[in-house]
Amino acid sequence: MPELASRDHVRRLLPLVRQVMAQASVAPRAVDAVAYTAGPGLAGALLVGASFAEALAYAWGVPALPVHHLEGHLLSPLLSADAPQFPFVALLVSGGHTQLMRVTGVGRYELLGETVDDAAGEAFDKTAKLLGLGYPGGPALARLALQGQRGRFRLPRPMAASGDLNFSFSGLKTAVMTHARGGLDEQERADLAAGFEEAAVDVLVGKGMAALRQTGLQRLVVAGGVGANRRLREALDAAAARAGARVFYPEPELCTDNGAMIALAGALRLRHGAPQRPAGHAFGVRPRWDLAELPPAG
Ligand code: KG4
Ligand code: ZN
Repeated sequence: MPELASRDHVRRLLPLVRQVMAQASVAPRAVDAVAYTAGPGLAGALLVGASFAEALAYAWGVPALPVHHLEGHLLSPLLSADAPQFPFVALLVSGGHTQLMRVTGVGRYELLGETVDDAAGEAFDKTAKLLGLGYPGGPALARLALQGQRGRFRLPRPMAASGDLNFSFSGLKTAVMTHARGGLDEQERADLAAGFEEAAVDVLVGKGMAALRQTGLQRLVVAGGVGANRRLREALDAAAARAGARVFYPEPELCTDNGAMIALAGALRLRHGAPQRPAGHAFGVRPRWDLAELPPAG
């Protein structure tokens, strides 16, 4: 319900910003710039954040920095104590996107492959719904899968052997639907959850490793909500160890959507001399926005 979501944003934003500033003991005059998500996403929700951030920047006399949501995810592992160096391959797995990118610097993103239908997170959410779990389905499905037997239901690995770095997840969801059609008992539900998780993880690991081979890089950064999945992390770490590569993850609380990653992307662009558009001027949002279109920083 996009309209309800944006109205809720209007109600919550000011008290939330007050609370965050108080908790962090940050005074407005200590703020160098206001970074905000300018896209991609739902236009109404984006506009609430953009107008608020632009107004705040204008009032505080600092630059406003529009940030690409996925750039925030992609750079979030740089907030860890053990941060990856450029260049690296990024596996972006969120509710709306599944992409592999070659990242050579801030704003230097080359798309290597992406999903041709559902995003990985979307597949977790839809499958969770089929199994009678609530939203967001990813964490609930992962919990249920812990009780399940992985080999019981053998599900397809869509596009695993496609020879490129693209993904497809809608067939996997359909396979779950077919198995669930006749009704499932408790154990079968858990087994099906485990089978789905294993198939999704297999595909993500296979393509992530193929991207490292193709680019000749040794560092893989995983970002976005699905990156919180424990099974995915175990399988990626094992495959990377075999290949002499390393996988970097954001801190768990920075895997799903958060403001810190947007602040970081804004700060890095500011440090690299992002074009300074004085606050108080026209601004817009980009509901559809290609990450590879971003200008390089520095
Ligand atoms: O990056 P994110 O917080 O929001 C978007 O930008 O989409 O990702 C949310 C997605 C949801 O689809 C959610 O089900 C999934 O991430 N997710 C997980 C787990 N935690 C969150 N999927 C699988 N396993 C998890 N542990
Ligand atoms: Zn996100």
